Amino acid sequence: MHDGQPAPLGDTTEPELFTWEFAADPYPAYAWLREHEPVRKQRLPSGVDAWLVTRYADARQALADQRLSKNPAHHDEPAHAKRKTGIPGERSANLMTHLLNIDPPDHTRLRRLVSKAFTPRRVAEFAPRVQELTDQLIDKFIEEGSADLIHEFAFPLPIYAICDLLGVPREDQDDFRDWAGMMIRHGGGPRGGVARSVKKMRGYLAELIHRKRLEPGDDLISGLIKASDHGEHLTENEAAAMAFILLFAGFETTVNLIGNGVYALLTHPEQRARLQKALSEGDTGLLETGVEELLRFDGPVELATWRFATGPLTIGGQDIAAGDPVLVVLAAADRDPARFDDPDTLDLSRRDNQHLGYGHGIHYCLGAPLARLEGQTALATLLRRLPDLQLAAEPDDLRWRGGLIMRGLRTLPVKFTTAQ
Ligand code: HEM
Repeated sequence: MHDGQPAPLGDTTEPELFTWEFAADPYPAYAWLREHEPVRKQRLPSGVDAWLVTRYADARQALADQRLSKNPAHHDEPAHAKRKTGIPGERSANLMTHLLNIDPPDHTRLRRLVSKAFTPRRVAEFAPRVQELTDQLIDKFIEEGSADLIHEFAFPLPIYAICDLLGVPREDQDDFRDWAGMMIRHGGGPRGGVARSVKKMRGYLAELIHRKRLEPGDDLISGLIKASDHGEHLTENEAAAMAFILLFAGFETTVNLIGNGVYALLTHPEQRARLQKALSEGDTGLLETGVEELLRFDGPVELATWRFATGPLTIGGQDIAAGDPVLVVLAAADRDPARFDDPDTLDLSRRDNQHLGYGHGIHYCLGAPLARLEGQTALATLLRRLPDLQLAAEPDDLRWRGGLIMRGLRTLPVKFTTAQ
């Protein structure tokens, strides 16, 4: 797809950002920005001006820079303007006071508490359930010989997985799927449906947390309620915000890891054949490095979430004023030739691969172990059960969502024979 077509260096034609062509393949534009304007003030579709940081070294530094706050109160625009910009405002204050919108010391305290409940061990123990969910979803469409892998596979898998992990009863999980579907479809669009879905989710989570406090189970929400540190506990409000961010941060990202990952494999047949061969020989090493490479090559999070300068600072030689929003472009940093050899080449066995797909610093993705588990299980199972899986559309006919933060396909039509 993008191989072999980096923007020609020295090309002074400024790329247009946020068009449909850009959504389909933003990488040439990012190559131009890295080369010509690595820290650039950009008017976003919402009307907000933000700094885009595109080089790997600057991106990594900015992600860990404590002078860049996650708290939208540091934005220099008045609060009433924030509602229309996509920057989280105060309207849903309760659910929005979560890890991605707060700074130390609150962030340190909440992250420590959640880490006690959301442990790598809990994720490892969850592996059989992820495998079972993956197989059940494939069972539903395997007889058809074709499917839309976004709607029938990549979309439901993470939502059922995180609901199970949190302890949302099975009979309520389809409601979650519908609310999440509304949020993903209209994330940057009509506010009414999204606001209603958030409201329903908030009401449901508050009630669920209340119930789990009375009757704890073996699930993550009960773990969050129980977790304590130096005598400190999460309040019910904090637990609700935490459950919400686990759902929200872990959902569309994983949909797109699976969607973008399958798409990249299907459009790079030699890499896909390598992986299929390794898996058939029982070697999972290439699956592990491969999922990391898919995250680097075309990851779900195109831009890291908002940051705001708490005082004047300099990034990549560019002065940034207090109150200015900064967006770190992970997708651009992860294709920086100053950091990665042949950055536009997909190489599933790439080892020197410290990509920024999960962020960096204190906000580094809390769900990375779960995302890896889901990504690896989904890809390995698809390739094993549908060995001749192929695209059922021309790559140029596929539509990308074109949101600001996330990068993902709207649909992924595939076909396969079912005779095995
Ligand atoms: C943070 C990516 C899956 C929960 C982040 C950040 C990135 C990221 C880039 C940092 C954002 C920033 O600094 O602005 C991804 C990707 C995923 C994924 C690419 C899938 C492939 C998940 C899952 C969960 C999750 C499955 C949970 C179930 C979180 C949380 C944070 C976070 C809670 C905030 C951490 C903090 O602020 O301390 N993720 N994520 N993510 N992620 Fe993920």
